Amino acid sequence: MAGATYAHDLTVIVPTYNESGNVAELVRRTALALEGLNAAILFVDDSTDDTADVVREVAKTAPLPVSVIHRDEPVNGLGGAVVEGFQAAASAICVVMDGDLQHPPEKIRELYARVSEPDVDIVAASRYMGGGDASGLADVTRHLVSRGSTLVTRAMFPLRLRHVTDPMTGFFAIDVSKLSLATLKPRGFKILLETIVRTNLRVAEIPFDFADRFAGDSKASLMQGVRFFQQLTLLRFGKMSAFAVIGALGAVANVAIVWLLTEFGMDYIWAAIIAAEVTIVANFLLIERFVFYDMKGAARGAWRRFASSFVFNNVESAVRIPVMSLMVSSWGMPSPIATAITLAVAFVIRFTFHSLVVYKP
Ligand code: GDD
Ligand code: MN
Repeated sequence: MAGATYAHDLTVIVPTYNESGNVAELVRRTALALEGLNAAILFVDDSTDDTADVVREVAKTAPLPVSVIHRDEPVNGLGGAVVEGFQAAASAICVVMDGDLQHPPEKIRELYARVSEPDVDIVAASRYMGGGDASGLADVTRHLVSRGSTLVTRAMFPLRLRHVTDPMTGFFAIDVSKLSLATLKPRGFKILLETIVRTNLRVAEIPFDFADRFAGDSKASLMQGVRFFQQLTLLRFGKMSAFAVIGALGAVANVAIVWLLTEFGMDYIWAAIIAAEVTIVANFLLIERFVFYDMKGAARGAWRRFASSFVFNNVESAVRIPVMSLMVSSWGMPSPIATAITLAVAFVIRFTFHSLVVYKP
């Protein structure tokens, strides 16, 4: 939309789901922080409480234009709400910010200034780059889940996310005039990741301190987590599924080799060791050829790639087998389930390691 004229220079899009206790304070701090700018606040609300009414009430006395789109039949959750905000915004530049004040409105001005520079289209506010802080992540578990899923995500898109330390942040600025909204298939929480991976918009980051919630409760849930992994695998079906297929072939080959060698009278332990080492080497050759073929110009030479892959896979099987028997003996878990769980976890860790370390971009 080159040359389009807009009513505002900046729209702050705030997706909300039952945040009535946060609206007044958020508008107050945002208005104060944006004094002198031609900015507006747009809430996109899917609430079942009175959040939308509170917004309309607060808008009456706010020092900047405040409006709300209330969706009676929300589609695509948080991501869908943000895209609807992009469509309705009366400005090219939008800042997306949570409605619970975990994202400090005082940072908006910096995001806006940076995204207005000619070399970037998206500016993400990062909890994880130097100078940022994620201490608002409620507890150790949330922290680990956030860190872990960030690592896996970056492993899946090593080139695109090379310089993006916090692809799951919900606080970012974007020049929507550069974005064709039809390319997005928003699902759930991770709208920024979706936008970065599906476009080639140029991304920069600035650090920020993730604060505690002002009022109300988080809407993050196990279901959100499941949706997130679905989104990830859909976005990155290619590489990861090829890696999985090769891993599965290896498992079958492993069993076949053990069977063959013991048939010829070899001791089971020796047969298992030989089968494991043969499949580890074959696995490396296959992923080198079929999965990470585009990453061979990586910083590491072929022998170092092989050595790190070989050592990792040996350590991984050496750890997985005792963990599995522990799950069976101390937790009473049926052994097929313990096998499946440890294999699935090992698969994700193995993929992450190969993507980030062996084939370091
Ligand atoms: N419109 C709409 N629809 N808004 C929603 C929905 C929805 O279905 N679900 C949640 N929201 C709003 C919340 O009201 C809040 O303003 C914002 O989205 C973030 O939701 P929280 O419940 O506060 O989630 P969080 O703090 O756990 O997640 C935040 O941090 C994550 C990283 O740890 C968000 O910023 C995420 O985007 C981010 O990935
Ligand atoms: Mn929050």
